[in-house]
Amino acid sequence: MLYITRRERFSAAHKLWNLNISEEENNKLFDKCAYPNYHGHNYDLYITVAGEIDKISGYVIDAKILKTIIFDKILSKVDHRNLNVDVEFLKGINPTSENLIVAFWKELKPEINTDTRKLYKIKLYETENNIAEYYGN
Ligand code: NI
Repeated sequence: MLYITRRERFSAAHKLWNLNISEEENNKLFDKCAYPNYHGHNYDLYITVAGEIDKISGYVIDAKILKTIIFDKILSKVDHRNLNVDVEFLKGINPTSENLIVAFWKELKPEINTDTRKLYKIKLYETENNIAEYYGN
C-alpha cells in the first residue's frame, strides 16, 4: 500500500457560528471567532490517497487527476468565498476545521475511491498552529 498526498491552498472567510444556539451563546462560545463581519484564513489542505501502484502508469493516482478532483469538488467552491454563506455543500454547517474536513470528505470520497485506491486522510491547516485531521471514521 502506498500513500500519495496532494497539497492545495485556499483563502476563505468565515465566522464560527452554530445556527442552533442563541447569539449570546455563540458569542460566549466562539468569542472573537464569532465577530459579525467575518475574518479570513489561508488554509493548507492535504489530501492523502492510499492504493496500489498501477503496473502500467506506476502511479497510485495521477497527480493531475487528483488535482482536478480537488479543484472541481472543493477549491472552485471555497477559494475566496465566505464559508458561512457562499458554499452549497456547507449550508447550515458551522465552519470549524473539524466540520470542514468532514464535509470535504463527503465531497471527495466518491470521486477518488476506486477498486484500487481510497481516500485515506484529509489534513487541514487553518493556521500554522491549528491543524485538523480526518480518516473518514
Ligand atoms: Ni477562524
